[in-house]
Amino acid sequence: MNIHRPLVEDQSYLRHFWHPVCTLDELKQSNPDGVGPIGAVLLDEPLVIARLDGEVVAMRDRCAHRFAKLSAGKIIGSRIQCPYHGWEYGASGKCELIPACPNDPIPKKAMTPGYDCRVKYDIVWVRLDSSWDLTEVPYCSAWDNPEFERVIVAQPYDWDSSSERRWENFTDFSHFAYVHPGTLYDPAYSEPAIVPIDRVGGEMQFFMEPGKDMLDTLPPESPLGSWTYRAAMPFSINLDIRLYKTGKPFLLWTTSSPVSHDRCRNFMIIAHTDAELPDEEPLNFQKIVLAEDQPVIETQPGGLSLEEVSLPTDKVSNQYRKWLRELANAASNGKEAFEHALLTDIVESR
Ligand code: FES
Ligand SMILES: [Fe+2]
Repeated sequence: MNIHRPLVEDQSYLRHFWHPVCTLDELKQSNPDGVGPIGAVLLDEPLVIARLDGEVVAMRDRCAHRFAKLSAGKIIGSRIQCPYHGWEYGASGKCELIPACPNDPIPKKAMTPGYDCRVKYDIVWVRLDSSWDLTEVPYCSAWDNPEFERVIVAQPYDWDSSSERRWENFTDFSHFAYVHPGTLYDPAYSEPAIVPIDRVGGEMQFFMEPGKDMLDTLPPESPLGSWTYRAAMPFSINLDIRLYKTGKPFLLWTTSSPVSHDRCRNFMIIAHTDAELPDEEPLNFQKIVLAEDQPVIETQPGGLSLEEVSLPTDKVSNQYRKWLRELANAASNGKEAFEHALLTDIVESR
């Protein structure tokens, strides 16, 4: 495929958004104290994540001395210690101890940049550029709806694909009949709906009702119901499902984290109303679905291209791409333009 005309030339606008980098569980598993450090990569930037004095922090994963990775070091009290010569860094990213010359002043450049870091939904989030402070951690309804008895924060999974492709894959109505026949969809429903799409508060919002008669052919674990999407830009999707079978809610939430232009780390939350159901059941069903998607999506090039041929039935993807381009262009024109592009509501549904 000719990808010489990329949809977006400059990806730096993505630095203004919050992205997930690891789960709290991963941080807890990282060592017996549960404080890290662990390494992650976000938009090609290597990060070290650690809990220092109770606070989760994120910094560039590079010691200023000889560029060893701090994520290979350890936590000493409230500092991260470099594994190579023992320099110790505090929560701000400044080096606070150089054991080789304990009586000399610490050079000003002996620091590593720190990034804004938050814990939400038992997931650690990082924003690389907080200079405009216009973005929020994406919406997840699992913590909002008291009907949910069980909320599962799944182990993240990595794909050789971009976050844009993963987002489009999750919201693509046309692929169900081909990639998920018998799991999510009956192949007889191969002509997808074209739905109204709203932009509200930095989210794409839309609604879809798959055919009810698929209940007869799909396995009982298949979350067939009315699907309400709230997709916080750029890579998050909160899919609230009202199950046809029981009338109860079921949540599939996913946010793709852009490791690089062709690599993504994907976070998933499943919430449901059956307190007795072992977590393995919905998780295993999702694993089957993901194993159907992954080999297809990994054949696509990471970058989105203006050469791709779009149909009216690709409306969700078409609108998504339009918005990505607007955001990228606006970001190069400054804070006000970016705020306007992200937060101007456009409502089609009424
Ligand atoms: S490379 Fe980190 S202390 Fe020398
Ligand atoms: Fe899929």
